Amino acid sequence: MKKVLSAILAAAVMCTSMLALAGCGGSKQESKKESAAASDSAASKGELHMATNAAFEPYEYKEGGEIVGIDAEIAKAICDKLGYTLVIDDMDFDAIITAVTSGKADFGMAGMTVTDERKQSVDFTDSYTTAIQSIIVNDGEDKVKSAEDLKKASVGVQLGTTGDIYVSDFEKDGAKIERFNKGADAVLALTQKKVDAVVIDNEPAKKFVEQNKGTKILDEPFENEDYAICLKKGSELTEQFNKALKELKDDGTVKKIIDKYIKA
Ligand code: ARG
Repeated sequence: MKKVLSAILAAAVMCTSMLALAGCGGSKQESKKESAAASDSAASKGELHMATNAAFEPYEYKEGGEIVGIDAEIAKAICDKLGYTLVIDDMDFDAIITAVTSGKADFGMAGMTVTDERKQSVDFTDSYTTAIQSIIVNDGEDKVKSAEDLKKASVGVQLGTTGDIYVSDFEKDGAKIERFNKGADAVLALTQKKVDAVVIDNEPAKKFVEQNKGTKILDEPFENEDYAICLKKGSELTEQFNKALKELKDDGTVKKIIDKYIKA
């Protein structure tokens, strides 16, 4: 018992000093023990759970078991500023809004586009970046050369994303939509010629094309979007998040984080 206690104490001291060094509330995706120690520390008001779908490089993805990316780092910077310990919960993209509205998560951040429909169930912060929907096709295939061509094609999308919403509009024209839980699975279906095209956000699209020889992005951009963080309707955190986000934009932190992951 004594041994256990001193081990916990040692861990707590270590965490506290590490936190002091980092000058922040720390982020936690690892062990429960560490999070307990971190949230007990005076630096933290407690944990904030972020719901995400960590299969969306460069915004959120796994690297050596850890969730990294633009969203993970901006969220960490916001939590540090507000004195919270960040905990990232990975889930399917289409589960994020429910996690937020049910209170299972404190906020959602997942390269998530602000839409009027989503605004009916959650509040959004100010936008932290913009994106474009891109169309990925196989090299040398000419069935889909423009957004218009999607109307007569089979199209892979990630379930519940704006890509899904846009091309679902084309179903009445004859488009066949295949919905996948992960963008990577949609791209896999493309490389296996099970679909003619994939519609997905431009930065993840670039990563997928880098990782899948024989695929390319069409020049024609599709839809322009704003990314923001979603919170429970009426949450008092939204205003605090906006204030922290503004400071992080003004002092160049947001740009620095984005530039680290997206090379010009
Ligand atoms: N921007 C799109 C949307 O909001 C796709 C986001 C997908 N994000 C993810 N982490 N898988 O619907």
